[in-house]
Amino acid sequence: MLLKINGLEKKFTQGSSEVIAVRDLNLEVAKGEFISIIGRSGSGKSTFLNMVAGLLEPTSGSIYLNEREITGLPDKEASFIRNSDIGYIMQGKSLLKNFTVLQNVLLPYYLFKRYGEIVEHARKLLDLVGILHLENAYPSRLSGGELRRVAIARALINQPSLLLADEPTSDLDGENTKEIMKLFRRIADQGTAVIMVTHELDTLKYGDVVYRMDEGLLTITKPATLAV
Ligand SMILES: Nc1ncnc2c1ncn2[C@@H]1O[C@H](COP(=O)(O)OP(=O)(O)O)[C@@H](O)[C@H]1O
Ligand SMILES: [Mg+2]
Repeated sequence: MLLKINGLEKKFTQGSSEVIAVRDLNLEVAKGEFISIIGRSGSGKSTFLNMVAGLLEPTSGSIYLNEREITGLPDKEASFIRNSDIGYIMQGKSLLKNFTVLQNVLLPYYLFKRYGEIVEHARKLLDLVGILHLENAYPSRLSGGELRRVAIARALINQPSLLLADEPTSDLDGENTKEIMKLFRRIADQGTAVIMVTHELDTLKYGDVVYRMDEGLLTITKPATLAV
């Protein structure tokens, strides 16, 4: 199993009250599997992805990636695994504004010492997401949809075994959404597992399994039973 999550939980304290954003979450994701997670705003979806991405420490539970526990690792080791094995397309803006599109895509590659020709690979990814013509532009010049495409290319630069995507098509129109979903499907078919959080029911058909998040609880669901 590529990803194995046991009893994952996250509690936040807000003043004197406590919010359990994610509760007793158990999940297995196989290599090349494409899963979608739906659920209303505030149900814990981003909190969950942030824990898998290693950006947020769980209150309890464990996460194994490639048979290796990635929770509770020393910072440096955790960042290396995260950087090499996990691509994360975060919700909202995440590009560095003083870097060009191409430099933003290259950044995760240069964060650790690596060897080899990468610029052509980065340009290939930009071409794949349809924005090679913008390689030398700065983020401030780009539309929401274009920024999202840069974030997608950047998440793929180190050829991760797991791609996390938090509402990746929320800035895209129908035609572009379809294109990005086909790209995710292709990436999954090539062996990268995909966990996508989405609000758009049209995108569910590209994945293999649909889960629903409800007040921190993750349950498996079938398209026919989706409450729109
Ligand atoms: N850093 C934080 N501190 C306190 N509460 C938080 C924090 N992040 C998220 N929450 C709370 O956790 C719950 C889940 O949030 P979130 O994971 O962002 O939901 P979703 O992505 O499904 O909209 C919400 O009640 C939210 O207010
Ligand atoms: Mg969210």
